[in-house]
Amino acid sequence: MASYDVIIIGSGPGGYVCAIRCAQLGLKTACVEGRDTLGGTCLNVGCIPSKALLHASHMLHEAEHNFAAMGLKGKSPSVDWKQMLSYKETTIEQNTKGIEFLFKKNKIDWLKGWGSVPEAGKVKVGDEAHEAKNIIIASGSEPASLPGVDVDEKVVVTSTGALELGRVPKKLVVIGAGVIGLELGSVYARLGSEVTVVEFLDVITPGMDGEVQKTFQKLLKKQGLEFIMGAAVQKTEATKTKAKVIYKLRKDDSEHVIDADTVLVATGRKPFTEGLGLDGLGIEMTKRGQIAVNKEWQTNVSGIYAIGDVIEGPMLAHKAEDEGMAVAEVIAGKHGHVNYGVIPGVIYTHPEVANVGVTEEELKETGRDYKVGKFSFMGNGRAKANFAGDGFVKILADKSTDRILGAHIVGPAAGDLIHEICVAMEFGASAQDLALTCHAHPTYSEAVREAALACGDGPIHM
Ligand code: FAD
Ligand code: NAI
Repeated sequence: MASYDVIIIGSGPGGYVCAIRCAQLGLKTACVEGRDTLGGTCLNVGCIPSKALLHASHMLHEAEHNFAAMGLKGKSPSVDWKQMLSYKETTIEQNTKGIEFLFKKNKIDWLKGWGSVPEAGKVKVGDEAHEAKNIIIASGSEPASLPGVDVDEKVVVTSTGALELGRVPKKLVVIGAGVIGLELGSVYARLGSEVTVVEFLDVITPGMDGEVQKTFQKLLKKQGLEFIMGAAVQKTEATKTKAKVIYKLRKDDSEHVIDADTVLVATGRKPFTEGLGLDGLGIEMTKRGQIAVNKEWQTNVSGIYAIGDVIEGPMLAHKAEDEGMAVAEVIAGKHGHVNYGVIPGVIYTHPEVANVGVTEEELKETGRDYKVGKFSFMGNGRAKANFAGDGFVKILADKSTDRILGAHIVGPAAGDLIHEICVAMEFGASAQDLALTCHAHPTYSEAVREAALACGDGPIHM
């Protein structure tokens, strides 16, 4: 039996970042992981593999649509799907091995196997029991199931199966116009699949700013994705090679059927707590099956903490990472903090979509006086040169104080551009602070400055 200051269960972005910070703070640390590789959902079957496929398929799209106009002539590349999957696997391996290296460097023990907590202060991995002054549960999430839809990960797949299909399907039906459905739907549309997205609501990406939802959907339609909105999926019927998706339109309750070679079920994810023994410990859960924690990520059982997808909040890798660092600091007797008001969200399609802070709809609901500064990428020289003029930057600021309250970007490198606004918000900056900051020319970032200028006397290039 080994004894630790901290044992973390789960090595996703929450768990592994927490382990590294604990070790850096001088705590004797171990991390339990049941998968064969470290890195959790994000590195193995989430963020990293999906971004590899998005990158490869985007390169193809550029070659097919923009190369000739730039004077780059020649045959468009063809898709070697096996090689694309192998590129994705190599990317995963480089990243998961990277975490293994960091664990060794920081003297963190990887306890291999599935862990459970028989009592506070003890973690069982296989037949071995270990002692820990502090236990952190970072067991992540898994795809939510949909009644009437049986996933076989071959024909009817979750994101995990969609990242390793045997071939590029001719017809792909995606259930759910959320982040997973649109990112992976984009990948397959670029690779030549006919993609139809069936969405329960009347808008895509629920919770996002309304203007972004509309513009984003229009751009995706232009790229060939089809949408059936306001449609509640009833069930799927699958053979070994094909499937039917049966849905009802909410407006008139009429039933329809759509054929597919592959069906991607992307209707959300749920916390994963199986086998941890939480019931026996009397750990309090929320109504949505998340582990309930206080402001210092402590559960109701002393010495047991939880972070990441398994607790409430956006299911995002960087949110899990921030909580991982913060809880390590709390345990080491320092002050751990996460500003939940400034957590960016990014969709890695092309163009990218990024947001931080409140939406215009939320401001209207609360009755707060606000102003909007908007700038189209059509007015940005760099974007025009790079065939990336679609989209805009929208900054929302308080009407009287000019303090930035939120920002929404559809456009090139949106996922990178959003961070200067995050930093500005962390410092309580006004839109004018951004507008008065010199931005290099020609960069996409100038569109952010122009949107900030639009909150005041007006943008220059519009
Ligand atoms: P996880 O990453 O889920 O890790 C939990 C780990 O705990 C797993 O490895 C699991 O095996 C292990 N575990 C669970 N129980 C036990 C046990 N009892 N014993 C031992 N080990 C256990 N987020 C982003 O921010 N950006 C993106 O681009 C992005 N893309 C995504 C794409 C896809 C297709 C998916 C599915 C998700 C994506 N996400 C993205 C979400 C992101 O992956 C999660 O928010 C993030 O991984 C959560 O981190 P976590 O540490 O809480 O849990
Ligand atoms: P999601 O919550 O983003 O979207 C699910 C969609 O499915 C919603 O639009 C919902 O209205 C719809 N839906 C639900 N039931 C339905 C039904 N019966 N019929 C039709 N539509 C239905 O969930 P998603 O895309 O599965 O992603 C899960 C999580 O993974 C997200 O919370 C996200 O944060 C994370 N993720 C993040 C990424 C990123 O940051 N780039 C990428 C991929 C995932």
